[in-house]
Amino acid sequence: GNRTFTMIKPDAVENGYIGAILDKITAAGFKIVAMKYTQLSTRDAELFYAIHKERPFFGELVEFMTRGPIVAAILEKDNAVDDFRALIGATNPEEAAEGTIRKLYAASIGENAVHGSDSDENAAIEGAFHFSGREIY
Ligand code: GTP
Ligand code: MG
Repeated sequence: GNRTFTMIKPDAVENGYIGAILDKITAAGFKIVAMKYTQLSTRDAELFYAIHKERPFFGELVEFMTRGPIVAAILEKDNAVDDFRALIGATNPEEAAEGTIRKLYAASIGENAVHGSDSDENAAIEGAFHFSGREIY
């Protein structure tokens, strides 16, 4: 697959890292094919993260993801899903490799700066959740 979906999460937006994170993404060879500055409603976050709804941190995750604006984007590159997850690093920034976006810009496993889709199928679902066809170039 050649597309993935990302969000710059509320913590990274609050900390002023939008520009730095977009620089890392484009320097790594990803092309932005859709992008918006938006805020998730509680319902949006509950739907987006429905797969985690039985996890103990679900309430905290929804609170966090809705507390301020995010940047949502669809990115294009060969091998996009896997290459993007390598660029962002492990879910827990303490375990993320040097130079990864989470190592550089995230504070904790809960507030970890960026989202990256985990499969081609989810990349398509998540992109369609946020963008209509006429918003993708
Ligand atoms: P995403 O790209 O955001 O999907 O992260 P991921 O694929 O690396 O991790 P996963 O899908 O397993 O978890 C989704 C999100 O839930 C994480 O990015 C965190 O924001 C949050 N999360 C995961 N584990 C924990 C946890 O133990 N505590 C808290 N508070 N949040 C967690
Ligand atoms: Mg995930």
